[in-house]
Amino acid sequence: MNIQKLTSLAHSAKMRSIVSLFDQKERVDDFSISTPHLHLDYSKQNITDVELEQLIEIAQGVSLSEEITKQFSGVKINNTEERSVLHTVLRAPQVVKQQILGETLANEVEAAEQQMANVVNNVQNGILTGHTGKRFTDVLAIGIGGSYYGVKVSLSALEHYRDLRLAVHFIANVDGGALEEKLKKLNSETTLVVVISKTFTTQETMLNAKAVKQWMLSCASVEEPKLNNVAAIIEKHWFAVSSNIEAAKEFGINVKHILPMWDWVGGRFSLWSTVGLPLALAIGNDNFNKLKQGAYEMDMHFKSTDFKHNMPVIMALLGIWNRNALEYPTLAILPYAHSLRALPGYLQQTDMESNGKSVSKSGDKLSWLTAPVVFGQEGTNGQHAFMQLMHQSDDIIPTDFIVALKGRSQYTENHKVLVANCFAQSEALMQGKTLQQVKIELEMSDLSADEISLIAPHKTMKGNTPSNTLVMDSLTPETIGSLLALYEHKIFVQGVLWQVNSFDQWGVELGKQLGARILSAIDGAEDDLLSASSQSLIARFRDRSKVTPSV
Ligand code: F6P
Repeated sequence: MNIQKLTSLAHSAKMRSIVSLFDQKERVDDFSISTPHLHLDYSKQNITDVELEQLIEIAQGVSLSEEITKQFSGVKINNTEERSVLHTVLRAPQVVKQQILGETLANEVEAAEQQMANVVNNVQNGILTGHTGKRFTDVLAIGIGGSYYGVKVSLSALEHYRDLRLAVHFIANVDGGALEEKLKKLNSETTLVVVISKTFTTQETMLNAKAVKQWMLSCASVEEPKLNNVAAIIEKHWFAVSSNIEAAKEFGINVKHILPMWDWVGGRFSLWSTVGLPLALAIGNDNFNKLKQGAYEMDMHFKSTDFKHNMPVIMALLGIWNRNALEYPTLAILPYAHSLRALPGYLQQTDMESNGKSVSKSGDKLSWLTAPVVFGQEGTNGQHAFMQLMHQSDDIIPTDFIVALKGRSQYTENHKVLVANCFAQSEALMQGKTLQQVKIELEMSDLSADEISLIAPHKTMKGNTPSNTLVMDSLTPETIGSLLALYEHKIFVQGVLWQVNSFDQWGVELGKQLGARILSAIDGAEDDLLSASSQSLIARFRDRSKVTPSV
């Protein structure tokens, strides 16, 4: 990427106010893009059309179009794992699956989709029941990372589409507190368990699955000893989603209840696969297919639209502009919808686990920075948490606001206030408030001149913070599918420009290795290679039994 060109371009941007760019009357129209389910207003970004053109040239300079074609056609672009990246094919029509995957594999994928749809139908119509013949009332999804976030964000976004006869719960963290909190709410007779793990080796997931299995068997042995047939309980209640079929069978799950996934679908991009089973159980097959349709429509927009009018490409280039030209290290994701409260967490994995790297695909140290630190939470809660910093610290924090024009609840006044706050925050972050403006305002009050000069500096706001506002008509399966696909493609484009492999995650390995060593040290093994700090902490943990708990 021509980083020098970016840096020279940014010089004038750093000297101007975003507000001044609105002297160009048609700015809002020129800096907006609409797709079938989303509208992007990026006019509050600190960028001119000339600068955007330069960014587009940089994208063309790294053969972005060819890279997009390679990804969609199954070239092994995940070069360090020698894998294709084909989550997109999972939401394409069968004929496209056959073109890309070939007849045999396409048929396997279709069979897996059918297997998943049958599970959903048979649970919903009571054909699949627990071992005592009772309908399932709860689904417990055990998984972490990409085997959790995609389903979590979609389920909370589509809460209104949920079959109220079936509640879905998640166990991701290895913390036993989370496990106990869930299990005490569940009835083992009517709980369906789905273990989701592409590798079927992830420590947290395996430990949680074992604990839930013990819980379910112990409940059965108490409630109906005569029926205490372990095999029947596991057979009836347990499903697995994995690419490691052998490990799932070894765990004791009936092979007919194991839904396959493939290594050419990355964990954090796997919602569209059989990983989506808990979501489909909650919202039904039709709505799950509409989610995939919304994503497919974004795929088509992404593949066929010129860069200037291409929503994922423009969002990616704006992110590069803010990160590498204007040198802003973070990105705030602020969904102004309670239903989208899980979106910041989902995007932390999708963005930071994909592009949080500093070595190029060919293994060379990069001379530019890559993924920003992504954070956020639902609006308006953020206004009572971190917006103070965003308005009055010297850090400029580019922001994505996401909002639905139509609310889901009967409380229309509340929704109007929610939307007004979203628009107000994006305006305030851009406009700010100068010392002069503060003084003029305060002069209308009964404060004395001395009091005004004392308080005024504390009331100035820096402004000049760039933001996108993504607007959807309402939260539907199509809009959510489109939204998630938009970010997937934005992150892909940024990976291409940063020249990183967005589809591996070697950075998580060291923590896992040290986790195993520290676990052994806690169990008594000597490990002099650990730091004195870790040794001391391990000793403190080992001696915890000597500490009398405070009441
Ligand atoms: O976070 C590391 C990671 O490998 C993710 O990429 C993945 O989604 C998660 O762990 C869970 O992995 P698995 O689905 O194999 O349990």
